[in-house]
Amino acid sequence: MPLVVGNWKMNTNVEQAVGLAKEVSDLTHAIDQVTKVICPPYVSLEPIKKALAGTKLHVGAQNLHPEPSGAFTGEVSVHMLSGLVEFAIVGHSERRNIFGESDDTVASKVIAAAAHKIRPIVCVGESTNQRDSGNAIDLVKQQLFASLNGYQDWTRLIVAYEPLWAIGTDKAASPEIAQEMMGSIRKAIVSKAGSRAGEALTLLYGGSVKSGNARSFFEQQDIDGALVGGSSLSAVEFFEIIKRAEHVD
Ligand code: PGA
Repeated sequence: MPLVVGNWKMNTNVEQAVGLAKEVSDLTHAIDQVTKVICPPYVSLEPIKKALAGTKLHVGAQNLHPEPSGAFTGEVSVHMLSGLVEFAIVGHSERRNIFGESDDTVASKVIAAAAHKIRPIVCVGESTNQRDSGNAIDLVKQQLFASLNGYQDWTRLIVAYEPLWAIGTDKAASPEIAQEMMGSIRKAIVSKAGSRAGEALTLLYGGSVKSGNARSFFEQQDIDGALVGGSSLSAVEFFEIIKRAEHVD
């Protein structure tokens, strides 16, 4: 089943977040053939979880700290999120580039999420320079395996390919570029962990996804869904994207 995830980033206060979540839930209520997830800011997770009880809209976190508790001022632990969210975005490029998260840090978060029954959405992607070097596929595969160091749970893995030059720029990758990268990622996972791991792997494209281009990504062989930033802040636009993930062969 396709998976569409909305990453709200650092937007919405609690009241706005609960309102948006309810709106998305109401609009997408009848869509059963797509797994739908929203990732609001931490402070809104609990009220949204309550507001969405009994609906088919799932809730995810945008980040987590891998330790269960301790002297980590300002952080939210995997343990605190356990039971509250079913998914967590890990290693988003904004975490890597603005907050300095290394591949090792990302790997520890991926393992901690899985240990707490939270499905990790591991983000990878190349910069403009890396794309121009002609080496993007190898570099992204290296980044992915470094970010999965020690991870074993191949049946629940979600990888989001988000080229940095496409995030928030209105310049999405072409479906062909995305497919080329994501086909290579799936092949690499098969080589490492076997064909069942490759089949179970959920691959999302992220970077300027909108209702106007979503379908062209969903039609690609190795693209199972999308990680949506800006467009997920409009309930109607997010609904239109989710609709386009339905009935894709
Ligand atoms: P965007 O962001 O859809 O606004 O490009 C995607 C993301 O950062 O996950």
